[in-house]
Amino acid sequence: EGLFTYDPGFVSTAACESQITYIDGANGVLLHRGYPIEQLAEKSDYLEVCYLLIHGELPTAEQAEEFRSTVKNHTMIHEQLRNFFNGFRRDAHPMAIMCGVVGALSAFYHDTMDFSDEHHREIAAFRLMAKMPTLAAMCYKYSTGQPFMYPRNDLDYAGNFLHMMFGTPCEPYQVNPVVAKAMDRIFVLHADHEQNASTSTVRLAGSSGANPFACIASGIAALWGPAHGGANEAVLNMLLEIGDESRIPEFIQRAKDKSDPFRLMGFGHRVYKNFDPRAKVMKQTCDDVLKELGCENDPLFRIARELERIALEDPYFVEKKLYPNVDFYSGIILRAVGIPVSMFTVIFAMARTIGWFSHWHEMVSSSYRIGRPRQLYTGHTARDYPSK
Ligand code: CMC
Repeated sequence: EGLFTYDPGFVSTAACESQITYIDGANGVLLHRGYPIEQLAEKSDYLEVCYLLIHGELPTAEQAEEFRSTVKNHTMIHEQLRNFFNGFRRDAHPMAIMCGVVGALSAFYHDTMDFSDEHHREIAAFRLMAKMPTLAAMCYKYSTGQPFMYPRNDLDYAGNFLHMMFGTPCEPYQVNPVVAKAMDRIFVLHADHEQNASTSTVRLAGSSGANPFACIASGIAALWGPAHGGANEAVLNMLLEIGDESRIPEFIQRAKDKSDPFRLMGFGHRVYKNFDPRAKVMKQTCDDVLKELGCENDPLFRIARELERIALEDPYFVEKKLYPNVDFYSGIILRAVGIPVSMFTVIFAMARTIGWFSHWHEMVSSSYRIGRPRQLYTGHTARDYPSK
């Protein structure tokens, strides 16, 4: 008692055992259940990765088919949940709305909330995977004043999301397969990343026995910050602010200046000290999508590439091992697809939901203790309340 390891930021503390995701930060390796992220991005798709993360193995063709059709059974939300949106200002940040509406899912499934029952856990997983795109698109529709679009189960996961975002009752959305593929790849690249701040938050919340919908809502809150998932939004705002390649050196200088709080957003990572393998795939996807959409001269992409080139030659970034992370290029793709900047982190949350759920599920499926870090107390010693 009284002798604790002091490890601010949990830089060298393992809080759990896990079999889901492996990262070798020194060598830029990311494996989900043993499979390299580059291969999953190339050969798999998001729902198959979801299956892999939860179940530990890739599905057979039959299992994959059943999994996809069960997700489709759950894409609608309870009509009462639609009313929640009206309580928000139209200009509310969609992450603020997501924190509320995802947590509120807990209020709709009283008959299947005994999470000691494996079946109830499984339905919760399907509900979360299926309803996140619906809720996310509703946030966007609410901000524009357009009617909410019901899901279309004849479309694949990414195509349905694009339909709910961009379709209207008077004009159906024509799914562009290149765009849908790029969205799916963004989902795959964000699906899980072991014990980051939001996943650790989900595990900690879940360790008290809280239900998975509430736990995922806590993950969404943790993800929102600019040091974590909010970085994709911050990157795009930064690139817009830079505005022209000629201003890059000024921003590089600011990032190095310790008296200036500015950091190069989308750069650096707690674990990756060589490169972020997700960023490499993302950069390639960005290239492909911009070509396909005929905007290969996108000025922001030019600025991003030049910023990366200059930073990677700068001794400050080299010595501190700061490389572009997953968020550096994702925003450029999302912007080219027509997704508004305020929705970027929501898309991260949608994709990461399966990672959060898989960690929660892994934890509650074996024996666990409530998470309860200790502290080094640096306050007053005991003192008497003054007499009046
Ligand atoms: N620009 C300039 N300097 C930086 C940056 C940056 N982006 N990132 C780290 N540094 C410096 C930092 O000032 C510190 O310098 P010193 O040792 O002289 O004090 C050193 O590098 C180590 O930084 P740290 O903040 O102690 O590292 P950390 O592991 O605690 O933080 C990080 C990691 C990702 C929060 C941080 O690199 C950062 O703020 N990056 C920008 C935000 C960002 O892109 N976040 C997305 C992360 S990837 C997706 C996700 O996880 O959601």
